[in-house]
Amino acid sequence: MIFAASCTEKKPEPKYLVLYYTQTGNTKAVAEEFQARLNADIDAIEATVPYDGDFQATIERSGKEREEGILPEIKPITRNIADYDVIFLGYPIWFGTYAPPVATFLNQTDLSGKKVVPFCTFGSGGLDSSVKDLKAKQPTADIQNGYGVRAARLSRIKDEIDRFLKENGFIEGEFTKLEDFPQQHPATEEEAAIFDAAVNGYPMLNAKAESVSQRTIPGGTEYLFTAVPLPREDNPDAKLPPMGPVKVYVTVLDGQQPEFTQVIR
Ligand SMILES: Cc1cc2nc3c(=O)[nH]c(=O)nc-3n(C[C@H](O)[C@H](O)[C@H](O)COP(=O)(O)O)c2cc1C
Repeated sequence: MIFAASCTEKKPEPKYLVLYYTQTGNTKAVAEEFQARLNADIDAIEATVPYDGDFQATIERSGKEREEGILPEIKPITRNIADYDVIFLGYPIWFGTYAPPVATFLNQTDLSGKKVVPFCTFGSGGLDSSVKDLKAKQPTADIQNGYGVRAARLSRIKDEIDRFLKENGFIEGEFTKLEDFPQQHPATEEEAAIFDAAVNGYPMLNAKAESVSQRTIPGGTEYLFTAVPLPREDNPDAKLPPMGPVKVYVTVLDGQQPEFTQVIR
């Protein structure tokens, strides 16, 4: 079904601020796409002592800070939050939630009454869990639907952000409204093979598809799998606690390889 988001009355344009933290540039790329599409102001949250080591060094420093209950200091934000109606707040997912410099920002800033649109980048997932944490942290802010994308799928952000902004009424234009996923059924061999192809080689996700449902999306099919972790012996490298069943979204665009879009733990 094609929907057109349009307004007949001319309302004054809201003032948008895109505010983000990035360590390796992925969230910055998403932030800049939102900024360009909304003609927004943009600002970055920066740690006073940057997390500038490699992945392992960052895991170690932030893991230690988490254990000790320490949050990093951040530099002052140059924009004045009070000047804006809508804040697009972007962050990488670290340990299942927004990265610590954003936690520091949220400790220092009261977003009461502001519309806040969360967005994030991640290796496998974390939009839902981080938005839940954000709502708990700022219960009087008006937290809107969020957007999340895997670091491995940044090439898709133009189309996805276009759709996200239309679907959520931030820009006008036609978009196809997606049907809900129907009830899941046990995965067939063919469907399990789609799951395996999508998660192939992703070390954090050593799991087997159990049940699935699917829906049509523009240019292809989207699957929602429920998967169960395989025994740990099969996955000696993963230094992760055992996990319960996970939900895995997989997209198959016509003529292309299956790719997973997010994991919900
Ligand atoms: C310390 C650390 C912890 C991370 N934890 C997670 C995680 O829990 N889940 C996940 O999907 N990705 C995780 N990642 C991957 C990042 O979310 C991903 O690479 C992100 O796109 C980085 O964004 P940036 O380039 O804007 O810094 C982690 C990365 C780091 C450095």
